[in-house]
Amino acid sequence: MTALLDAAERMGHEELRALQLERLRATLRHAYTHVGHYRAAFDRAGLHPDDCRSLADLARFPFTTKADLRDNYPFGMFAVPEEQVRRIHASSGTTGRPTVVGYTQGDLDTWADVVARSIRAAGGRPGQKVHVAYGYGLFTGGLGAHYGAERLGCTVIPASGGMTARQVQLIQDFRPEIIMVTPSYMLTLLDEFERQGVDPRATSLKVGIFGAEPWTQEMRREIEERFAIDAVDIYGLSEVMGPGVAQECVETKDGLHIWEDHFYPEVVDPFTGEVLPEGAEGELVFTSLTKEAMPVIRYRTRDLTRLLPGTARVFRRMEKVTGRSDDLVILRGVNLFPTQIEEIVLRTPAVSPHFQLRLTREGRLDALTVRAEARAGATPEERAAAAASVAAAVKDGIGVSVGVEILDPETLERSVGKFRRIVDERDRPGS
Ligand code: DLL
Repeated sequence: MTALLDAAERMGHEELRALQLERLRATLRHAYTHVGHYRAAFDRAGLHPDDCRSLADLARFPFTTKADLRDNYPFGMFAVPEEQVRRIHASSGTTGRPTVVGYTQGDLDTWADVVARSIRAAGGRPGQKVHVAYGYGLFTGGLGAHYGAERLGCTVIPASGGMTARQVQLIQDFRPEIIMVTPSYMLTLLDEFERQGVDPRATSLKVGIFGAEPWTQEMRREIEERFAIDAVDIYGLSEVMGPGVAQECVETKDGLHIWEDHFYPEVVDPFTGEVLPEGAEGELVFTSLTKEAMPVIRYRTRDLTRLLPGTARVFRRMEKVTGRSDDLVILRGVNLFPTQIEEIVLRTPAVSPHFQLRLTREGRLDALTVRAEARAGATPEERAAAAASVAAAVKDGIGVSVGVEILDPETLERSVGKFRRIVDERDRPGS
């Protein structure tokens, strides 16, 4: 077992904390010296990088937000001359400017290393084939997974997203052991396997590494059962690196180990910004420890989770992200995350895992309709019972009334990457 771990994964606690402090201090100095935004922000707070003498001192430093990155569009957050930047990625940005991130050659190496480590933690081994169905391009999913798989010594099949029928063909013909894809697109692939009359349990796949969007334990069970594979969670965000910031270990499947030798986590109260103790739920915040082109100091992810002690590795774990503050729906005063609905839908036998949430406005009140597809062959009575049972489970479990529509199979839009669970029609006239 130990032979499979790299040097950092074999560190003791104290060694790890000492390494983090050394890297943190260097990162603060690098950011302060080379990025105008950080110099101004630290100066305003009356702080100098040398004021960070312990890991706890980090809490005195100001946060960085997505708005800070947008304000410095496109390259204002870079800490190295532009000619040293080897790659640029960007998030689509639903409103306004995209968020731009840059990598030096050193950063690309670090990224490949942490993704290789992630694939290994997921059960992948050199010599295996990895089918990458995350999108390639400005999104970090495809290229991030790609270089990590190569670094581990795997053979990469760079399928990217889309052309679903062909993906199924490639999986049958090339016989990959591992697939890296969003969980929602894995469900789209599942439909296609069934449409082509191919048994999804009989493929060469052994492990699925799923991330880029929230997914629940119920979804894990569904995917593992339908494909006869191990399904593990990979987390990351472009501002911090991309995929491979944290990874679930296949032997424990108990949350994601954060690769803490490169990314220092904190969980804070999303309203007051106060650092919360281990185990308390709040907003995840990251400080990069080794990034060169674009160091981030206390970057607010808006993802909600809690930190837990390490199990399969020395590094701390983060619990599966159940929601991000942006996806929170407040319905007549009740907070609701799409993942809570996912749990209920997946527990309802006559309903398929395909669902969307439609938000509309009735008078001055918001209304939510759960639109889920019936499983093939479900009778009208089973469909009616399923609608009533989903509505009752939402009312009992979450405490709010929602509408439920059970649609015919294959009627809802399918995911090709990150899936938009919430369709917000509140601004539509007549809704
Ligand atoms: O989604 C990077 C990535 C690609 C991660 C492939 C994993 C696999 P962004 O496009 O910048 O980067 O989006 C980052 O996606 O803040 C979370 O809200 C969400 N997210 C990513 N991974 C997970 C996960 C990539 N495993 C944002 N569970 C993050 C829940 C996730 N949410």
